[in-house]
Amino acid sequence: MAKKKFKVIIEIYSQGWKMKFFHQDITVESCDGVYFPREDSEMFADFIEELDLVGKRALDVGCGTGILSVVMAKKGAHVVSTDINERAVECTLKNAKTNGIAVNAVLTDVFDGLGSFDVIVFNSPYLPPGDENDIMWTNEHAIEKFLTGVGEHLKKGGRAYILVSSLTRVQPTGRVVRTKKLDFEELKIVEISKI
Ligand SMILES: C[S@@+](CC[C@H](N)C(=O)[O-])C[C@H]1O[C@@H](n2cnc3c(N)ncnc32)[C@H](O)[C@@H]1O
Repeated sequence: MAKKKFKVIIEIYSQGWKMKFFHQDITVESCDGVYFPREDSEMFADFIEELDLVGKRALDVGCGTGILSVVMAKKGAHVVSTDINERAVECTLKNAKTNGIAVNAVLTDVFDGLGSFDVIVFNSPYLPPGDENDIMWTNEHAIEKFLTGVGEHLKKGGRAYILVSSLTRVQPTGRVVRTKKLDFEELKIVEISKI
């Protein structure tokens, strides 16, 4: 069977260029200085499509362009999106609008100042520290903070999902619900539940 490829186009204008990422009927546009969706985002978006989110309170930590927030909102969730990068918060609001949905996007560190949720997703900055430590890619503090605090931000019966790589130094414990092999690493989504 042929591998499913995610769909991206690059549009070139006289003033510069933009990338567009497509997932089903959703299109998100790139924003300067904001993580553009890749295999990890697509893997997470496909996983979210299988969740029942109607009427659920959902949190997207590290929202980037807002791709996962838009997928969750389209599935009927009331979505709060957070990022530590102000440009990602603005980008998420812009992409939510162009996709005809509303999200509440907040500039914060992981989930500081927020309440509790039925579903929390985090496509984390999972690469280990290296020469370049852009928080788009690498932030062990954020992963540690998420794993330490996620229980307090989940409602009873709630579920959190974090995406990390085999390269990630801080590994979550929980049920592995998805894996994907890439050339140099394996991605996985780990479920953390609050009974
Ligand atoms: C791998 S990207 C995922 C972006 C998007 N969710 C996606 O799936 O395409 C990780 C995101 O986490 C954000 N991030 C890094 N540290 C953070 C923190 N302490 N709190 C909130 N967001 C953070 C980055 O700015 C980046 O947008």
